[in-house]
Amino acid sequence: MKIVTIVGARPQFIKAAAVARKLKSQSGITEVLVHTGQHYDDNMSEVFFQELEIPKPDYHLGIGSSSHGAQTGRMLEAIEQVLLKELPDWVLVYGDTNSTLAGAIAAVKLHIPVAHVEAGLRSFNPQMPEEINRVLTDHAANLLFAPTTAAVENLQREGIPQEKVHLVGDVMYDASLDYAVKAEAKSQILSQLKLTPQNYILATIHRAENTDNPEKLQAIFQAFTKVAQTIPVILPLHPRTRAALQRAEINPTSHIQLIDPVGYLDMVMLEKNAKIIATDSGGVQKEAFFYRVPCVTLRTETEWIELVELGWNRLVPPLNTQDIASSLLDALGKITNHEIPDGIYGGGLATSKIVSLLTQDN
Ligand code: UD1
Ligand code: UDP
Repeated sequence: MKIVTIVGARPQFIKAAAVARKLKSQSGITEVLVHTGQHYDDNMSEVFFQELEIPKPDYHLGIGSSSHGAQTGRMLEAIEQVLLKELPDWVLVYGDTNSTLAGAIAAVKLHIPVAHVEAGLRSFNPQMPEEINRVLTDHAANLLFAPTTAAVENLQREGIPQEKVHLVGDVMYDASLDYAVKAEAKSQILSQLKLTPQNYILATIHRAENTDNPEKLQAIFQAFTKVAQTIPVILPLHPRTRAALQRAEINPTSHIQLIDPVGYLDMVMLEKNAKIIATDSGGVQKEAFFYRVPCVTLRTETEWIELVELGWNRLVPPLNTQDIASSLLDALGKITNHEIPDGIYGGGLATSKIVSLLTQDN
């Protein structure tokens, strides 16, 4: 059986690495890896292939950055060529990026079954490019791997036949288990940055709704500057955010420790040892919970609603500096001692379930 996996952006390398390990352990499965080239800087792409021991992509499409239509369109054309050549049994796509949507459309038009990992997540914000990508991908998919019960319910509400939908858990949780020991053994990031565990805030910002709105971006960075007078703020800077700061002529103060994007193993160590995490990332919100670090999410809504309900994550719309700064300072002072239900993200079995469903259905 042949599976073509489509990846292109940072979080997809991590998710696909976890699934690829399981696929490799099964006999009779050939995985053909396609990298669209959506992310291309070494620290946004190559570092993950090396650290997570992902095989070199069989196809690198080299699409790069451009507007949504141009980027997705070029991917669609190039992926179609690969699929016509490989004629796989399944096309496997992850998450909600333009690479996800291009992979799903290319496959469904050729009548090749699509399997979607992280199906059913919804922000209910139609302005988000990711929301459009998710909804369209889910409606094109034949097999939908939902990470949470909320995701299953979203798909039911949209009328997607129940037999296509499987609650498997979150592959990122599996990845966190797979690479925990390696991160502890290999990463030197805390000493390199002279950080003391439990004595810094880890922040990441990259969501278009924050970076592309200069008022919001200003409010977020002013709040970080304020809070950095109390506790160090470390911020691995996504290239989109670096460009947006330059465009908006925002010069974050030297109080905030801006660093280049880091590899996954360093990121895990930064997350695990942070006092709190402030982010607009989907993956980082969950990793905060995996490592039991309180999280402030600088958005109006989240797809991972269970973390807000559990009290591990609080949503703070990034509208003004004062509100953001006081929420961060408040989160610093709180002892989080909530009860945690067992296995809300699948207990580490998501990748096994995905592989088993892919092979069963064929
Ligand atoms: C994409 C996804 C987003 C995901 C994120 C993960 C879409 C619509 N968005 O957002 O859902 O959360 O990846 O990180 O697919 N750039 C570089 N070097 C790179 C990659 C990007 O400089 O290696 C810069 C370019 O200026 C580019 C900008 O970042 O225009 C945005 O990149 P793009 O891939 O379009 O979107 P992301 O913001 O990374
Ligand atoms: N990540 C990383 N280095 C960084 C920032 C993030 O390895 O400098 C990892 C992070 O641990 C998580 C994933 O990238 O596993 C999240 O990706 P991102 O925030 O770019 O996208 P999202 O999850 O919001 O789609």
